[in-house]
Amino acid sequence: MCGIVGAVAQRDVSQILLEGLSRLEYRGYDSAGIAVIDHGNLKRIRTAGKVRELAEEVNKTVLPGGTGIAHTRWATHGAPSVANAHPHVSGNIAVVHNGIIENYLEIKERLLGEGFSFESDTDTEVLVKLADYYRRTEKDLLSAVKAAVRDLRGAYGAVFISSDEPDHLVLIRSGSPVVIGVGLGENFVASDPLALMPVTHNFIYLEEGDIADISRFSISVWDAAGNAVKRESVSSDASSGGDATKGNYHHFMEKEIYEQSIVIPQSLEGRIRNGRFLPESFGARAVELFKETEHVKIVACGTSFHAGLIAKSWIEEFAGITADAEIASEFRYRKSVTEPRTLFITISQSGETADTLAALRLSKQQGYLGSLAICNVPESSIVRESDMVFFTRAGREIGVASTKAFTTQLLALLLFAGSLAKIKARIDAETESAMVQALEKIPAFISDVLRQDDIIRKLSLDFVNKRNALFLGRGVMCPVAMEGALKLKEISYIHAEAYAAGELKHGPLALIDSEMPVIVVAPRNDLLEKLRSNIQEVRARGGVLYVFASENSGFRDEENMKIIHLPAVPDVISPVIYTIPLQLLAYHVAIIKGTDVDQPRNLAKSVTVE
Ligand code: F6R
Repeated sequence: MCGIVGAVAQRDVSQILLEGLSRLEYRGYDSAGIAVIDHGNLKRIRTAGKVRELAEEVNKTVLPGGTGIAHTRWATHGAPSVANAHPHVSGNIAVVHNGIIENYLEIKERLLGEGFSFESDTDTEVLVKLADYYRRTEKDLLSAVKAAVRDLRGAYGAVFISSDEPDHLVLIRSGSPVVIGVGLGENFVASDPLALMPVTHNFIYLEEGDIADISRFSISVWDAAGNAVKRESVSSDASSGGDATKGNYHHFMEKEIYEQSIVIPQSLEGRIRNGRFLPESFGARAVELFKETEHVKIVACGTSFHAGLIAKSWIEEFAGITADAEIASEFRYRKSVTEPRTLFITISQSGETADTLAALRLSKQQGYLGSLAICNVPESSIVRESDMVFFTRAGREIGVASTKAFTTQLLALLLFAGSLAKIKARIDAETESAMVQALEKIPAFISDVLRQDDIIRKLSLDFVNKRNALFLGRGVMCPVAMEGALKLKEISYIHAEAYAAGELKHGPLALIDSEMPVIVVAPRNDLLEKLRSNIQEVRARGGVLYVFASENSGFRDEENMKIIHLPAVPDVISPVIYTIPLQLLAYHVAIIKGTDVDQPRNLAKSVTVE
């Protein structure tokens, strides 16, 4: 993985491919490459660095040709290097690939025995060698690829070209997304339609196991059983909406933090009416399924998992039914028990996270009532495979660290918990109306918090030379602390941990000294007095505290304790509001440390491998 672009056209395609790659840059990558068929010869250029550097290399030479493939790689097998960058080549064939070929060592052994040699440490190289091996006996590239696919285990979205058949792309999909972009007398492929927006708005989505042969004027598709099939094209104006420029902001992350006051009302629109929740906004079957639901299982990864943990508290508190949230990579590999009448919820910004998708697929064999996806990308695999869908409408999120996607997920989950509570008759009209009013006030409160940006920026100076940080919260604010710690570690590379504050004395208190900043999320709620005691435990041991507290909570700055006052907000929305300053804190610390804020090292935006 991470980004694939391909084209077959009459015009030269190298600039189209480079533009496509730069549109996928936000997903994170460490090397890039391109291969074009130039007058019957396969020409390839690869760099270990940014697409900009690849473009410079391409522009130093002439790279004409109407058929080509390109890739941004995020290292899984083998270090980031030119030798490991895609496209990989064998004989006259080249390939770009997202996913992981699980049995690559086995295939490699076999091909070494057949006299093939390997230049990279990647699993991908076996794909192209295998196709080349079968091409010796098969009549064309398509048949060779079909034969190769039969030997593969794992996940792949891959595109092959061959200088023997310069007007064809052969595309395979299993477990890793690829789309065909339909043009006029030219066709394209990509791992995300976003890459192809300058050249087409018509897309064909392949299904699991599909193989496609694409030329300038024809697109032929075979399903996993080998039957010729027709896949309809759909028109799309953008993969997930939103503007791909930074505007007046320095980074996409900064822009996306600020956009939260705009995308929240966008996400709310049409989902409440006259102060009431609208359960039907979760889909035509929602009311019927919610009535039957007696338990909720939430599965997600990373930031989306944190949203799930918060939702667990909300569902139990408001709807009065049991809920649990689990990390997808754990859920999919353990023998779990399905409670009767359980609704299965996945939360995913991208809708392509491999573990979450695998968990969703597994849930279908486990007797769940049905599945609901909370997702930001309408055409994604998770959306297409779920019974019900709720789009978060955050617009495209480009910064690798999730910000606006998270808060719109929280909004979606609050609407879900409220709708479920309403259907279960657990809330009266007055409570429902108070909850809806609180939701409607979120944008204004976010704007208030954003006005603290300068204070938080100054505060961030204290963190720059720290190696560790501890985040504390209680109750529903505990996952907010976890999200704050994740943001700080992923973009500033400072080691950060979050704890339920009541757990301090069971171990982590041993870490407290003047070198350990302790960040506390302390809205004024039922647990505040308990939290005050935890704060005292830290102070008594010489800890340095940064307390994000409600302006009416009575906290004052004291020696080694800095208070950041936030607006007094209704309890129900405090997880959304208290997330914002933690995002700002991580952002400013990262800026001062000079890290790559939008594309932090080692991370990818969409984790389509497990
Ligand atoms: C962190 C972050 C990740 C993602 C995780 C799941 O800022 O963005 O932890 O939340 O990789 O991704 P999605 O939501 O696309 O399934």
